[in-house]
Amino acid sequence: MTETHASAPPAHIAIIMDGNGRWAKSRGMIRHAGHKAGLDTAREIIEHCTALGVGALTLFTFSSENWQRPEGEVTRLMELFLGALNKEARELHENGVRLRFIGDRSGFSAKLQSGMAETEALTSGNPRMLLNIAVGYGGRWDIAAAARRLAGDVAAGRLKAEQVDESRLAAALSLADVPDPDLFIRTGGERRISNFLLWNLAYTELYFTDVLWPDFRETALDEAIAWFYSRQRRFGKTGEQVEEREHA
Ligand code: IPE
Ligand code: IPE
Ligand code: MG
Repeated sequence: MTETHASAPPAHIAIIMDGNGRWAKSRGMIRHAGHKAGLDTAREIIEHCTALGVGALTLFTFSSENWQRPEGEVTRLMELFLGALNKEARELHENGVRLRFIGDRSGFSAKLQSGMAETEALTSGNPRMLLNIAVGYGGRWDIAAAARRLAGDVAAGRLKAEQVDESRLAAALSLADVPDPDLFIRTGGERRISNFLLWNLAYTELYFTDVLWPDFRETALDEAIAWFYSRQRRFGKTGEQVEEREHA
């Protein structure tokens, strides 16, 4: 067998948690029941990632486009989110998890915004795993915000236009201090990125599964990670080059 395997565990996993609505519908339940079940799955997957020693986990919880959903669904999602923030934050803190929210927070209630800030402050010194919760997040928003920041630096004379390069742009993004995801997972059957981490997924291994998010339990994550181990990451090089390096 000539295929070489990724040897390090995924340092950063990014997940689009999709399929809550269909999960509920298939059981004759309202969509919100799917979101509640999805929260239970998120808790289990976060715990599992922490136990496995994953360095960073980024969960797509609410996209910039999800604001377009029916008002009732958005309102109940926000309530669920606030409840989770109040209930789960302490437990995550006790487990040594550091929480960070990425996305445009301006659309969220004052209560949610302060809850997010307090949770970030409470957990900021935690060493175990960085949990990024993407809310009101869009990959295009992130890149545009980074470009705006750099343009501001140029206008203020702190940076020359010709100094704008990939590393400076990357350093102005929400996940500037986190390595790019090694493994991306999307549940729910769609094969698309839906405006998630557009910049950061450039060389990520993409894993798509038909399993709906509420059904994506520990063993399903183990399967995704096993698949990740089977990939040869070439980053533009030839397979032979990669094998040589691995055997050196
Ligand atoms: C993902 O599940 C959760 C959010 C986007 C908030 P969906 O609500 O998109 O579930 P489906 O895709 O309709 O089944
Ligand atoms: C992506 O799911 C966003 C989240 C899971 C938070 P969507 O259900 O919004 O994606 P589309 O609309 O099917 O692409
Ligand atoms: Mg969906």
